[in-house]
Amino acid sequence: MALLTKAARGTGDVLPSVSYKNRFIESTMLEIGNNFGFKEIRTPVFEHTELFNRSVGETTDVVQKEMYTFEDNGGRSITLKPEGTAGAVRAFLEHGLFNEPMPMKLAYVTPCYRYEKPQAGRLREFHQFGVECFGAAAPAADAEVIALGKHIFDFFGIDDLRLEINSIGCPGCRKNYQAALREYFNSNIDDLCETCKGRLDRNPMRILDCKSPVCSGIAGNAPKILDYICDDCQAHFDSVKKYLDAMGIEYTVNPTIVRGLDYYTRTVFEFVTGSIGAQSTVCGGGRYDGLVEQLGGPSVPACGFAVGLERFMMLLEARGIELPAENPTDLYIASMNDEANIKAAELASQVRQEGVACLFDTVGRSLKAQMKFANKMGVLYTAVLGTDEIANGVVNVKCMADGTEVPVALEDFAVNFINMSINKAVDDFNVGDVDVSSVLGGLL
Ligand code: HAM
Repeated sequence: MALLTKAARGTGDVLPSVSYKNRFIESTMLEIGNNFGFKEIRTPVFEHTELFNRSVGETTDVVQKEMYTFEDNGGRSITLKPEGTAGAVRAFLEHGLFNEPMPMKLAYVTPCYRYEKPQAGRLREFHQFGVECFGAAAPAADAEVIALGKHIFDFFGIDDLRLEINSIGCPGCRKNYQAALREYFNSNIDDLCETCKGRLDRNPMRILDCKSPVCSGIAGNAPKILDYICDDCQAHFDSVKKYLDAMGIEYTVNPTIVRGLDYYTRTVFEFVTGSIGAQSTVCGGGRYDGLVEQLGGPSVPACGFAVGLERFMMLLEARGIELPAENPTDLYIASMNDEANIKAAELASQVRQEGVACLFDTVGRSLKAQMKFANKMGVLYTAVLGTDEIANGVVNVKCMADGTEVPVALEDFAVNFINMSINKAVDDFNVGDVDVSSVLGGLL
């Protein structure tokens, strides 16, 4: 039975007391992205497994150990997306978006699935806000994408993040580096985990981000890619740094960042915090110039990043950063009898059409219980309808913040109610004790 009433390990519910924060964060990130020219794309939660094998990479932890893969009833191998980039690239190709004016800038909010060992900040279902910029090879694009990440963190008042950058070169300069890595790890081969032993020949860079403490200890002294990158990649990296300097974005070069996914080329970066424990990378990204072509498209350079939204929210909490409260319910129309409740339904329908958040009784409560409920819900105004009010065509609307009551005609109730609340806000403002919460939340 416990299985029925407990969410699967590494997943969680977002209850109404929190979900408004997610909504605010997601829509704000998309809006800031829009200011940088990124337009929202939505791609399916599952894709053909082959897409992730080919993009994220066969020798990555994600593909080797963490994907939720299953055969569907048609016998196809399907995988729940472990990240957002592959689906965005697939959609970019499928819809011929490379024929549109470049750069093509896409943004998304998506759930992701990785079979990892759950701990604080590491989940099996998590969410990413991500951006992907296609068709811009210049260092300015890398810097702009990083600037967007920084802008988002700044907007929310998160000022303790460290931006770490590195260049992992191109396939050309990586050949020498991989040879150096093979030589180094070969001399430690007995201590490597079984997965990394298998990676040594195929993709020794993957050993650098193995999560096993022994492998990562050995990786700490491995040769650094920055000592091997070619002149073009070095010039690109220097130029990215110049742009960041010009934009006043502080960074440190961390030559150990290689990222856990295979598609990266040249610039890679992470925003790291000391405030949320071991899972300290809140945002990761970089350039991936070869991926579009690798998946069968034209040669289109690209770069992007993804913020882990659960880690982002942990960070907000750790830093004590408050988000705007959810809009309160504007009006509760209580009723004294069945006939009045039908009128309440009619009035609620009218005001809701004008954008007013309004409730009436759908439980069959006594008047006293209705008022208690309205109080608990924190509504801004209440009105009590009875036979007299309906006969006279007027109801008293009470402001719950200060107890003042104003008669409002039932004819054209929506307009009258809205005018009343605006007049009250203006009056309050004029007498200097403005209570912003008495202005209709939904109308602001
Ligand atoms: P990633 O570094 O694998 O990159 O993930 C990005 C972010 O997702 C991480 O920095 C972290 O905040 C969050 N994250 C990853 N795994 C988990 C997890 N198990 N639980 C909670 N949060 C997690 C990518 O996914 C790339 N697609 C980013 C990118 C976009 N690169 C270019 N464009």
